[in-house]
Amino acid sequence: MTKPPRITVFGTGYLGTAHAACLASLGFDVLGVDIDAARIAALEAGRLPFYELGLEPLLREGLRSGRLGFTTSYPSAAEFGDVHFICVGTPQRPGAPGADLSQFEACFAGLAPLLRRPCLVVGKSTVPPGTAAGYARRLPVTSPAGARVELAWNPEFLREGHAVADTLRPDRIVAGVWSGRAEAALREVYAEPLAAGVPFVVTDPATAELVKAAANAFLATKISFINAMAEVCEVTGADVLSLADALGRDPRIGGAALRPGLGFGGGCLPKDIRALAARAAELGVDQALSFLHEVDAINGRRRTRLVDLAREAAGGRLEGRRVGVLGLAFKPGSDDIRDSPALEVAVRIRALGARVVAFDPAAMDRARRVHPDLDYTGSVLGAARDADVLLLLTEWPEFSTADPKVLAKTVARQTVVDARHALDAAAWRACGWDYRAPGRPGGIRPAAASDGPAARGSGATDRGVTGAGDAARARVEVACLAAAS
Ligand code: UGA
Repeated sequence: MTKPPRITVFGTGYLGTAHAACLASLGFDVLGVDIDAARIAALEAGRLPFYELGLEPLLREGLRSGRLGFTTSYPSAAEFGDVHFICVGTPQRPGAPGADLSQFEACFAGLAPLLRRPCLVVGKSTVPPGTAAGYARRLPVTSPAGARVELAWNPEFLREGHAVADTLRPDRIVAGVWSGRAEAALREVYAEPLAAGVPFVVTDPATAELVKAAANAFLATKISFINAMAEVCEVTGADVLSLADALGRDPRIGGAALRPGLGFGGGCLPKDIRALAARAAELGVDQALSFLHEVDAINGRRRTRLVDLAREAAGGRLEGRRVGVLGLAFKPGSDDIRDSPALEVAVRIRALGARVVAFDPAAMDRARRVHPDLDYTGSVLGAARDADVLLLLTEWPEFSTADPKVLAKTVARQTVVDARHALDAAAWRACGWDYRAPGRPGGIRPAAASDGPAARGSGATDRGVTGAGDAARARVEVACLAAAS
């Protein structure tokens, strides 16, 4: 019986750390590699340098079992690994739309000359089309092992906040390979998810790298589509939540990535659509992807619209107002503030002269480092205290369950703007709040009064695709009415 391949993972961000810890949990010997010594020291001590639910226990278990280790040494990693995954960041170039591949280049240039025995180098980072082919040409001429070293492309589809589940049970595994040997090596690494029925799509590396860029472009397009419809809703009086609900029930459309609100942010979708469009222009097919510029523009307008909504809700001006902000991370379940719509809105409102008091369950330390000009507080109540307007900007579950009756007692004015449609509008209104949300009409029919049981049974709830639950709403309404009488 041959020994299982030993694995290295270069880059210990969300992707690399999740990949390394998950593969160790499947029984492989794994070495995580990073040039950041402080990060490696934290990981060796069992501490995650970022917030990702469920990953730290896996990290600690890997360290305890001896199957997972970390190093800053490329020679040690080159000596150790049979399969080397490259998971380093490919951020947007400063001041330009294209991808900055300098981390990938540095990793490749550091590793390739050290590879002296047969092994597979696997690109996992998101890169512009055509990147894999260039590195595949360079690999055998740069590595002492020559043709016995091969490149493959195996894009990653994990979402922050779901990193462990998405790594262990992805929707699909895409293997971009030039040879049967590379395919066999990847099948061995992914034997467990493949045995559990995860589809394995074998393709050429050019297609594999494009699958990832295209997937993110499609998701971004879907989000911007429903947000464009929210703009139309705002001038027609239609309700974007009911619209999204009805659209999403068509299986050809589907409800995923169809949540309207403040749009997409984070370290992936925004920079990936820009990098793809920029690459298309370099390749002479800029027209084919010109719609991605519109997708980006619609997304940007959501942030501006939210600032406008906040100003309207605050009585026409923000200067001198106290604004409570719930949420700073680009999405719940993450402390990531890269291109966060929530943080950008908070900062723009601060720049307009408001005092912004913000709370986020995970992202405050990161936000404070970049924006010490905002005020930070440790709770929902703290953000609401004396607020002229309360803004929900990231849909953390603890915000949805906050009691509108309790919060009513602490604010200066009962006005809330729900940018993510996370609150139960009827319940908040029943407690006397002026509730506003982008893409929704001002006056919302109480579901119990105007929607028949059949409509409610079909899922036509006040929160559309996210589903609020009429019973919960009715309970809050009864509580508020009782409190008011
Ligand atoms: C995204 C993709 O979903 C992953 O498949 C991909 O692997 C990853 O990028 C990557 O390239 O590494 P992620 O950035 O973690 O994952 O976040 P998403 O859950 O896709 O959300 C992105 C943004 O869109 C968030 O700001 C979220 O609030 C927003 N969003 C998402 C919406 O506004 N509406 C939706 O319906 C869905």
